[in-house]
Amino acid sequence: MENKIIIGNMKMYMNIQDIDKYLKEMENKITNNVILCPTNIYIPYFLNKGYNIGIQNVHYQESGSYTGEVSPKQAYDIGIRYSIVGHSERRLYFNETDIDINKKVKSCLSNNLSVILCIGETEEEKNMLKTDIVLKHQLKIALNDIDKKYQDKIIIAYEPRWAIGTNKIPSNKEIKDSINYIKLILKQCKLDLKVVYGGSINDKNIEVLKNIDNIDGFMVGTSSVDTKKFGKIIEIINS
Ligand code: PGA
Repeated sequence: MENKIIIGNMKMYMNIQDIDKYLKEMENKITNNVILCPTNIYIPYFLNKGYNIGIQNVHYQESGSYTGEVSPKQAYDIGIRYSIVGHSERRLYFNETDIDINKKVKSCLSNNLSVILCIGETEEEKNMLKTDIVLKHQLKIALNDIDKKYQDKIIIAYEPRWAIGTNKIPSNKEIKDSINYIKLILKQCKLDLKVVYGGSINDKNIEVLKNIDNIDGFMVGTSSVDTKKFGKIIEIINS
């Protein structure tokens, strides 16, 4: 069933040669429920091929003197239709705050870009049993003042920070409980959004993860640049 969302967050990986090979090897494997998010400068290589394309980050202004940044309006202009917002690597290494993230969400939506909003707790917060508090806080600020009319254009990616790039993965029950909690908070905000899981997904653990019954899809990081692994992940999720 091709109804689950599959996001490939390709991070800062690959060069032109790799991409050439990638596109050939993935040609018949990228189904229309897949959203590919390549490194900015390589996005044009992925456009006009019938794929859903996302950018990994945007600025919240439409234009201006912001050296090194890309606006949602510019992204839309070249055919990008999604943006990841608030990825934990942005929060951690680039000091993105929940307030910045809220501005980015609003700017994306008003410029026709759908948003993949990432939230998740650190290992320390998990150990202190603060996961729910953190998720609620991140969601409430990021989605503050967002009109209900945009609800088809927002996907929540639940990505525990401690599970990203670590090969550590929560149990199906932990993921299920967090997704239920996220959906409860969203309901209180009068929003009905899709929620996906991301963090250390590979072609082996996806067999188990796909059994989580309240999940709307998956966000795959490092494994999404490996054609064998990503091809298999897509096949398993769609089967
Ligand atoms: P990972 O990353 O799959 O490499 O853990 C997930 C993500 O950052 O979205």
